[in-house]
Amino acid sequence: MCGIVGYLGKKNTKEILLEGLKELEYRGYDSAGIAVLSDGEFSSFKAVGKLVNLEEKTKEFTTDKFAAGIGHTRWATHGKPTELNAHPHVGASSYVVHNGIIENYAELKKELQNTGVTFLSQTDTEVIVHQFEKNQQDAANSFEAFKKTIGELEGAYAILLVTKAEPDTIFFAKNGSPMLMGINAENEKYFASSDTPLIGQCSDVNYFEDGDYGYVNADEIVIFDKSGNKKEPHFTKLATNKLSAQKDGYRFFMEKEIYEQSTVIADTLLGRLSEDSVILDEIDSSLFEGINEIKLCACGTSYHSALTASYMFERHAKVKTSVEVASEFRYREPIMTKDTLFVVISQSGETADTLETLKMAKAAGLKTLVICNVDNSSMVRIADASILTRAGIEKGVASTKAFATQVVVFWMLSLYLAKRNNTLRAEEIAAQIAVLREVPKSVIVEDAMHERIKRLSKRYLHGHGFFFIGRDLFYPLALEGALKLKEISYLHAEGYPSGEMKHGPIALADPELFTIALLPEHLLYEKSRSNAEELSARDSTICAISPIEFDKADDFIKTKKHSHYMLEFFEMMLVVQLLSLEISVRLGNDVDMPRNLAKSVTVE
Ligand code: G6P
Repeated sequence: MCGIVGYLGKKNTKEILLEGLKELEYRGYDSAGIAVLSDGEFSSFKAVGKLVNLEEKTKEFTTDKFAAGIGHTRWATHGKPTELNAHPHVGASSYVVHNGIIENYAELKKELQNTGVTFLSQTDTEVIVHQFEKNQQDAANSFEAFKKTIGELEGAYAILLVTKAEPDTIFFAKNGSPMLMGINAENEKYFASSDTPLIGQCSDVNYFEDGDYGYVNADEIVIFDKSGNKKEPHFTKLATNKLSAQKDGYRFFMEKEIYEQSTVIADTLLGRLSEDSVILDEIDSSLFEGINEIKLCACGTSYHSALTASYMFERHAKVKTSVEVASEFRYREPIMTKDTLFVVISQSGETADTLETLKMAKAAGLKTLVICNVDNSSMVRIADASILTRAGIEKGVASTKAFATQVVVFWMLSLYLAKRNNTLRAEEIAAQIAVLREVPKSVIVEDAMHERIKRLSKRYLHGHGFFFIGRDLFYPLALEGALKLKEISYLHAEGYPSGEMKHGPIALADPELFTIALLPEHLLYEKSRSNAEELSARDSTICAISPIEFDKADDFIKTKKHSHYMLEFFEMMLVVQLLSLEISVRLGNDVDMPRNLAKSVTVE
């Protein structure tokens, strides 16, 4: 999803902007651009496609004096991914970059066009710069014009604007889309959509709240809140250790992140397990007082991990649990009762639909909890309580290690609740904790396994579709396996409960229908195997993943013998991730930045 950067200072502004945009690449984008105002003159460059194209265009351009610069990576919403639609958008003497959606752009555009303004792009963003310049004509100064403009916008935005009338100033506004500002001892000011571009550049950062707007120049940082009251910036220290952004010898970030799962799961467990209980210092057990029901809301991969939670919460803690796709929940006028704990799950903590459901639950007076990978993200700041997944920065658009750590957190939380609710015997909790400690080992990628999957992958590059099937907790895993494959191979894949295949989808069975059957030994093995046999009998090509040999399979990926189905779950998760990766590699796709997808979807 779109990314924003801004810089005010004396260094090489172009380099700083481009470096910042590179750090935001993982969010997904289809074009990029920068505008730099120095010595009263603008230089602006835009390019479709990857950042190398923009680098190429700006090769000859340098700035070594004081400058105000803004940059943007765009993920198209209004208008195609063309150079004209790429940001920054220009007026007569100003440039703007924007994340989010201006919902009333059509009426503003019409009014502006009636006064003779010509629009160059099809974007909603362009209205901002024209509206600002229209307001400049009557306003006492540019800030007043900016303030008026912000008041006229409806929707979600993070905005940076630079104008010749105030050549040493960056104007900013934030509402519903993430943005922060960083400072350092050299009196430089940085802006970005997330803190990664600022690590190593800034010592302190201020996360803007919804409704904040203002300006910065060499001498001042001026912020107003949504009611128009001036407020002091609230600076916090920024981490200095830039988490490894390198591929460490792996071909892709996704591959590196799959291999990292063992380490990050160990981090997720760190300090949270004793012999007989789960320790979650970050939550107060009063959060669960008066709670009779848990509602989970999320999108994409996080939704799949939420589904696993629903099995574990009901099974272990005996709490009624339901799961909803956030974009559906928002508009269906859901009934929200105060005895429900509302839990959102998000790798980024910024996904617009999920964030909105969290706001809805808060507004309805529900207690809220977020399971998230990014500290200080919007969701973490809004929810009553948060549990961080500690997966580290995830760069591959297709989520892997974030999912793994989410499931681990849910498993821990289910045991925490089981103890609190007295629904599992102490020995059973202790036994599961012992199994939890085994998880990091179960997700170590062994060369032989990876090689086998690499070899097998060549047989799955065509066909008219894939069904990933599983039962119980392996059903959400089947959904996740299918999503991974879709995302990076562009092949049609569906996740299905094994037992449901006979109620329709089995009609598709033929040798060109590939069934990836998850057959764990310790959870409904016989039933899952029968379902796979039903498909095999109808000539579907079967790839079985199991520790038990399955003679009806065309291909067989043998997993290790484990003592518990959750360990089988994690090893099979590894298998489906690697299978998608290798199929995508063979098809020559961009594994880390698949077409049409964004890492952080900050529009609904
Ligand atoms: C996008 C990403 C998915 C991700 C989903 C939810 O669609 O491409 O990989 O699962 O957003 O993201 P979140 O950050 O809320 O977990």
